[in-house]
Amino acid sequence: MVPQWIIEKKRDGREIADKELKEFIDGFVNNSIPDYQMAAFAMAVFFKGMSFDEVTAMTDAMMRSGDVLDWSGLSRPTVDKHSTGGIGDKISIPLAPLVAASGAAVPMISGRGLGITGGTLDKLESIPGYNTQLGTDEFRNVLEKIGCSIIGQTSRLAPADKKLYALRDVTGTVQSIPLIASSIMSKKLAEGAKGLVLDVKCGVGAFMKEEVDAKKLAETMIQIGRNMGRSMSALLTDMNQPLGRTVGHTLEIKESIDVLAGKGPKDVTDLTVELGAEMLILADICKNIEEGREAMRSNIATGAGLETFAKMIEAHGGNPGVVEDFSIVTPAPHCIDVTSDENGIISNVDAESIGRITLLLGGGRKLSSDSVDHSVGIDRLVKVGEKVDKGDLVMRLHARNKAEAESVLQLAKNAVVVSDNAPAEKPLFIARLGGKN
Ligand code: URA
Repeated sequence: MVPQWIIEKKRDGREIADKELKEFIDGFVNNSIPDYQMAAFAMAVFFKGMSFDEVTAMTDAMMRSGDVLDWSGLSRPTVDKHSTGGIGDKISIPLAPLVAASGAAVPMISGRGLGITGGTLDKLESIPGYNTQLGTDEFRNVLEKIGCSIIGQTSRLAPADKKLYALRDVTGTVQSIPLIASSIMSKKLAEGAKGLVLDVKCGVGAFMKEEVDAKKLAETMIQIGRNMGRSMSALLTDMNQPLGRTVGHTLEIKESIDVLAGKGPKDVTDLTVELGAEMLILADICKNIEEGREAMRSNIATGAGLETFAKMIEAHGGNPGVVEDFSIVTPAPHCIDVTSDENGIISNVDAESIGRITLLLGGGRKLSSDSVDHSVGIDRLVKVGEKVDKGDLVMRLHARNKAEAESVLQLAKNAVVVSDNAPAEKPLFIARLGGKN
């Protein structure tokens, strides 16, 4: 294989054979293909796209560049969820134990937050003692016994993606549907779950701002998963306002516990129930969406999901008492209330600004090597469509000190728009794609 011939083929819009793509990816991982050739290839893909066959072969090669987990022998059916990420998206935390409580195994390998979007791992690490770095045997034991385990990504999972993603980040080639789809799916397929539900976010707080792009991305990922023998479905969901009423690690854990205890905000609860119902169908535990929803609601009502969450925390070395008594988690030392300057109806809560405020308070990373403060963030956030009077609380800022809280006050005020009239309703659920195959 001559690397420049592959680049030229893509540049001219011709199809690349599976074998050539595999050799190209392998060469990149073992450094026989330099970054400049991979960067040129990524740019050619950016402009010319990829056929489904090509994107599947690329995903397969990236997946096989590292460990591929194998859950055969596990007594429970495996199923997972992936979200393209958004502000206040803590869904994985209540979702995994609720689905596990119905008999599935949910092997979740999650990432840390970067930029304005939070990461599930950072949130879990706000629970005293929770260890996100389990070895493969321990991971399997927790899955078999409890049904869910959420751990951090190892460097052995899809290393080709890690290297390519870093290169795309600095060569203007992130926003390419085949490259995003193969990047996400190589990691998810390496996790080995038989079923996968995608939550593809769409809106100002999401990677995909437009519905048409979110749909195309979801369809591409569904197709890749199916070509590789997995059961796939996807929900397109709104990410114009944050999910729930909290943003920030500790505060989002508290809200997740509220969801498990049946006291969570409606949007987080509805999305958890809907994604869980899809997962239970893919795992062959429920026959249809109504049965799936019913199982999820019942696991909330009986406390089975909350109990499973406590067991998962304990299996990871954390303090399970957190589900009963949240005062064991250290709060931020300084809170200030942000209030409305007028009477009216909330017409916008800007997800991007809310993410930025949390980052500025110390809850996010500018560089992947940065550490985060788990305690800071926002709670009691209003939702679009709610009525407020002048002086009513629109959010509470949790900060490390008074100066840091005051430094984001104006940004916080500007993030919430109050109008005279109710805004046009933006549904949380935009579309459902795929399904049991
Ligand atoms: N998330 C990923 O894992 N990869 C991308 O390319 C984009 C988002």
